[in-house]
Amino acid sequence: MVSGAQETEHIAADKRPLGFDAEPDALAAVEAIIRASGINQTLAPIDCPSGLPNQAYTDPAWFALEQSRIFARQWIFVGSDGELPEVGSIKPIEIAGQPIMLVRGEDQTVRAFHNVCRHRGTQLITEPCALRSVTCPYHAWNYRLDGRLRSRPHFRGPNQVERFSEEVNPELDLLPVRLSSWQGCLFVDLSGQAPDLSHWLAPMLARFGAYDFANIQWIGKDSFTIRANWKLVLENYMEPYHVFAAHPRLLAHAPMDVRWSGQWQDHVFYNDYVAPTLTEGRGAALPHYPNLSDEDTRRGAWTTCFPTFCVEVFADQFTVLVTYPIAPDETYEELHFFVVNEDAAHAPEHEEGRKGLLEMWHDLNLEDVAILERLQKGRKSAAFPGSLMSPAWETPSHQLSQKVLQAIVEP
Ligand code: FES
Ligand SMILES: [Fe+2]
Repeated sequence: MVSGAQETEHIAADKRPLGFDAEPDALAAVEAIIRASGINQTLAPIDCPSGLPNQAYTDPAWFALEQSRIFARQWIFVGSDGELPEVGSIKPIEIAGQPIMLVRGEDQTVRAFHNVCRHRGTQLITEPCALRSVTCPYHAWNYRLDGRLRSRPHFRGPNQVERFSEEVNPELDLLPVRLSSWQGCLFVDLSGQAPDLSHWLAPMLARFGAYDFANIQWIGKDSFTIRANWKLVLENYMEPYHVFAAHPRLLAHAPMDVRWSGQWQDHVFYNDYVAPTLTEGRGAALPHYPNLSDEDTRRGAWTTCFPTFCVEVFADQFTVLVTYPIAPDETYEELHFFVVNEDAAHAPEHEEGRKGLLEMWHDLNLEDVAILERLQKGRKSAAFPGSLMSPAWETPSHQLSQKVLQAIVEP
C-alpha cells in the first residue's frame, strides 16, 4: 500500500504535459474531479479512447468550474436587439448560473444589469416583458430603466417614501454588466476583463469576408431545452459525420462527399461545404447577400467562437445558435435568425421564405435532440472509457475537450 503523498507523486509523474499555462488552484480543482487519468484521457491522441471523461458531462463540481472559469470570463451572446423592440423591453437570462437582465432604456440604449434587487437580492424579472420601471416584488424598491434607484417606500419607517434624484448612486442602483454589441447581436462579459468584442469576433468575421453583414435584420428566434450537457450539443453542432445517419433533408442538400471535418484556429472553429444546389431554408427562397460568387452562393459555412457563439451562414441568412448550460445534464439552446436586409425581413412576398427558414431549423434541431439526450444517458456508464473519435471527422470535437480543459485552468 502506498501513502497518500506517494500516491500523489505517482499520479503527478504519470501526467501528460499540459502544453499550456495553468493556475495551480484551478488545476488542483480539475484533478480533484477527473484525476490525472482524466487529464491524460483529455490530452490523449485521437486514435486512443480520448476526450473529457464522463465526470465532465455529469459532475456538478465540474459544471461549477466551467461556469466560473469559462462562462463568467468570456463574451456570451445573450440575445438580439430585435428582441427588445421598445423602451422598457426587458429580457432576463442566466449566464454562468447568474441572473442577468437586458433592458432598453428611455434613450433607446440596451443595458445589461445583474437581475437582483440591491435590498435583499430578490431576482427582479423572471419573464421577458415591457415595463416603464422595474419594481421589486418583495418591498417595492423601484428602479429606472437605466438602473438608478428611483424610490423605496417605508424603508425609513411607516409611510415614509424616499425618492432619489437623477444622480447615480452606486450603493443603491442596479449593478451593471459589461455589454457590447455587433450588428444587433448582444453580448455580455461578466468578468469585465475579456478582450474587446470586436477583437474577439474579428477572426470569425474574417472567414466570412465574402458576405456583407452590414444590413442583416433579425426576424425571430427558436429555443430548445435539451437534457444533455452543453458540450455534447456543441460537439454535435461541429461534426458533420452524423449527417448521413441523422439528417435526411440536410443530407439531400449537401451529401457527405462535399463535407470535411472543419478546423479550429485559436478560439474560432470553422467548417463549410459547397452544396450542389440551393434548397428551401438554405438559400433557395430569400434574397441573397450582394455580389456573391457562384460558390459562395451555394456555400453553407458554420463557425463557433469559443465557448458558445455559433453562427451558420448561407447566401440568404445569418443564423446564431447559442448553448446555455443549465445543469450538467441540461442545456438551453437559442437560435436567432437574421436575413440579409430589410426587404428580406419585412416584404410580404418573402413571408413564405422566412417561414421556410424557421421550419427548416426547427426540424433539423428536433432530429438532434433525441440523440443528444441518449448521448447524455451514455455518459452515466462507468464502462465507457472515452470516445473513439473519427480522425476524418472529429478532430475538432477532440480538440474541444482540450480547449475546455485549457479554458478552465488557464490564468
Ligand atoms: S428585496 Fe427588493 S425590495 Fe426588498
Ligand atoms: Fe445534427
